[in-house]
Amino acid sequence: MQHRVTTATLMKMKQDGQKITALTAYDYPFAGMLAQAGIEIILVGDSLGMVVQGKENTLPVTMDEMIYHTAMVSRACAFSMVVGDMPFMSYQGSLDTAIENGGRFLKEAGASAVKLEGGTAVCSVITAMAKAGIPVQAHIGLTPQSVHQMGGFKVQRDEERLLKDARDVQAAGAFSVVLEGIPSPISAKITKELQIPTIGIGAGAECDGQLLVLHDMLGINDRFLPKFVKKYADLAGIAKQGLEKYIKEVKDGEFPSKEYEYK
Ligand code: KIV
Repeated sequence: MQHRVTTATLMKMKQDGQKITALTAYDYPFAGMLAQAGIEIILVGDSLGMVVQGKENTLPVTMDEMIYHTAMVSRACAFSMVVGDMPFMSYQGSLDTAIENGGRFLKEAGASAVKLEGGTAVCSVITAMAKAGIPVQAHIGLTPQSVHQMGGFKVQRDEERLLKDARDVQAAGAFSVVLEGIPSPISAKITKELQIPTIGIGAGAECDGQLLVLHDMLGINDRFLPKFVKKYADLAGIAKQGLEKYIKEVKDGEFPSKEYEYK
């Protein structure tokens, strides 16, 4: 059996120039498929608020919901690193609350790291959590929890600020950083400068790894897809065909046929 991916594995992959694969998952069956396929990082993202719960943004997602989904994912993964996403207001209030909530992901949900949004502004939180033994993945650029502050889900282009955010989260003790919605030349600069691995989502090809939201890349839902999403499958289309066939066969009396009956 392959060993579980750790922060050290990811660091070595960056040093060796091996690309890191990351996807989101929110439940046991999909997490199992991802782990078996060999995805290195499974992020239980608060994007579940949008793609699973059908909400407009990620802000209403709670700690208890994140723990519930992360525990399902962890149960399916002996190989991938499971990262739990700290929801809005679970780490902004005080360092004690942040450590307590971050610790829940490791203690109750079987994750081996957490992710939180923000750059320079959240460095004290990253340091406090890292000191408490909680590995932290930072997330800079387009940070969906700041949707109202950013005035929508907008690509972030302030190079000076992004470089500072990236340097600061590394210095604060983050083991990796997600770069979201950032022009490729800026992500390339950040990736070259940092020692920790960068994981890009809508941030170009030069990042050390790539991340997509599972329900977007597998075509599970019909919501608007940003430009950077490549659709690798059409699971909604396949499901629709199966459902229509089932309805037709039941209505026509074709299902259940003899082979599906008890003798
Ligand atoms: O919640 C999430 O899935 C995320 C990724 C989009 C980076 O934060």
